[in-house]
This record gives sequence, structure tokens and C-alpha cells, in this order.
Amino acid sequence: MQNENLSGACAKLGAMEKVNLQEKFAAFTEHWRPKIVGELNGQEVKVVKFEGVFPWHQHEREDELFLVWRGRMRIEFRDRIVELNAGEFLVVPHGVEHRTAADGEAEVILFEPAATRNTGDAQESEFTAPDGVAI
Ligand code: NI
Repeated sequence: MQNENLSGACAKLGAMEKVNLQEKFAAFTEHWRPKIVGELNGQEVKVVKFEGVFPWHQHEREDELFLVWRGRMRIEFRDRIVELNAGEFLVVPHGVEHRTAADGEAEVILFEPAATRNTGDAQESEFTAPDGVAI
């Protein structure tokens, strides 16, 4: 940081410096592994690539926002399916069972409380991503 007095504020990811989403998405290739690109008020902004079908799960406390940046995806609930295209978002409330799916690759921005487990209450699997990975 150029100004020492700002070092505290700048310790937060994405604070006081612009974040270029295109660059962030270009910096990784794996699917289902969210990367933190910003944090504020106990929440994290993450980027993730989806392809295929994720396990069913729910989150006891956390609401999750899915915003599609590129491509298209589905958010499936037990009673219906919502298709999301680039530029569209949806909030999954806590306690609601859901799974995400994408036929081709989708680039998605997540906004949710820090340390939200991506697979929620589902049994640990190869889909369970490590916490706190920034990019
Ligand atoms: Ni979820």
C-alpha cells in the first residue's frame, strides 16, 4: 500500500483497490472451488466456475447469492428449477435445500458470510472446497 495509514483498511481483500473480475476468472481453471476476491462486513465476495451438477445441500444459517458473470447455470430446488443467465442473480435463503448445475462452464460470483461451507450440510466429498482461499 502506498499510504502506511491505510494499511489496516487495505488488509481487507478488495478494499481501496479495484478488482478486475475478468482477470480473477482468468487466474484459475478448476470447477466448484470458490476463491475470495473481496470481503466486507463479515461477508465474502467469491468467484467460482461451475460445470456439471453439485450435490444437494442446505445451509443452516447462511443465505447465498449467486450472480452469473459468464455462461448460464441452474439453481435447482426440490420443487422447481431456476435458470440464470449472465447478468442475473438469485438468493438462496438459509434452510432451503438446493443444488447448482451448469451444462457448459459458467463463471459465477458468490456473496455469502465468510467461511460458508460450499456443500452446506452434505457429507464431505470431492465437492467440498477449502475455506479462505483468496485469489
Ligand atoms: Ni449452497
